Amino acid sequence: NDIEKGTYSHFMLKEIDEQPFVMRKIINEYQTENNELKMDTGVRQAMNSCDRIYIIAAGTSYHAGLVGKEFIEKLANIPVEVHIASEFSYNTPLLSEKPLFIFISQSGETADSRAVLVKIKEMGHPALTITNVPGSTLSREADYTLNLYAGPEIAVASTKAYTAQIAVLAILAVDTAKTKGLSLDFDPMRELAIVANAMEVLTDQKEAIEDLARKYLRTARNAFFIGRSIDYHVCLEAALKLKEISYIQAEGFAGGELKHGTIALIEEGTPVIALATQKNVNYSIRGNVQEVVARGANDMVISMKGLEQDTDAFVIPHVHELLTPLVSVVPLQLLSYYAALHRDCDVDKPRNLAKSVTVE
Ligand code: G6P
Repeated sequence: NDIEKGTYSHFMLKEIDEQPFVMRKIINEYQTENNELKMDTGVRQAMNSCDRIYIIAAGTSYHAGLVGKEFIEKLANIPVEVHIASEFSYNTPLLSEKPLFIFISQSGETADSRAVLVKIKEMGHPALTITNVPGSTLSREADYTLNLYAGPEIAVASTKAYTAQIAVLAILAVDTAKTKGLSLDFDPMRELAIVANAMEVLTDQKEAIEDLARKYLRTARNAFFIGRSIDYHVCLEAALKLKEISYIQAEGFAGGELKHGTIALIEEGTPVIALATQKNVNYSIRGNVQEVVARGANDMVISMKGLEQDTDAFVIPHVHELLTPLVSVVPLQLLSYYAALHRDCDVDKPRNLAKSVTVE
């Protein structure tokens, strides 16, 4: 492998740190000299002629797809379904008249995603692959490809590919909205530049996050991540990250679902990490935090500037409310990293996991 860790002890930490640069690279690659959005005309046509989008992915890429759905529905006004690749074959939904399939895959080699691609191509439907590996199978076999420009990702736990996927999905959604003539009060490149700076602020705060990992997770048996709205999607990703590399049993939940079961698991000292980056649900998620604290939970609130409260464990810089996943995920990636490190786990090569799953 000719990719070097340099001064880093692990690829994962290096890749977390690369995220601001990846954001800037994406801004450059998806912009013309006249500062207009640069988008493949085939992709533009496909986005404009479909009546529904089916996002197919696995693992972390699936979690990016959940965020992408919000962008495409809210900005471009196209209905979106997000499906786990391995389930799609059995639970194939009723398709719309003019479906467009979007495959999100860091490696472009995930067998379950490829199986769906083969199937829908047989049915004659168009496919777009969003991948970090341009010549990959999913890229070659789809009609269109959008590149992530994240550079090789070596650590098994995906970090910079996730944020790159979300950024590219945001650009795709805005580009579609513009081609459709929808009026938007959202300049994606400007907002992504703000995100890049915010990411840099966060990667400079490693010590604070390492302290939190030590305090909350070093000896924890389990951990819960709660959030509402777009924060909920990030909670799923945060829980996956923690499971993958620290082997702590972790789950992400929608705040409102707590009382329907999960709250039964809260004991004295159970770590509950809550995300609070969305103004419209700030009050409700704070209510959920009080509910778990009343049952003994060790709460850690990660909020966004402007919505913070005195007792919050960590505050992320302010970014556009649609793009908060790009920023809120960074301390959560670092939290997993340091939790794994302090539990003596093999951060870059966790047990039982492969970087790319090429068997069904
Ligand atoms: C494996 C990796 C994950 C990744 C998933 C999907 O499980 O360990 O990090 O999210 O595959 O991979 P893809 O390359 O399709 O995004």
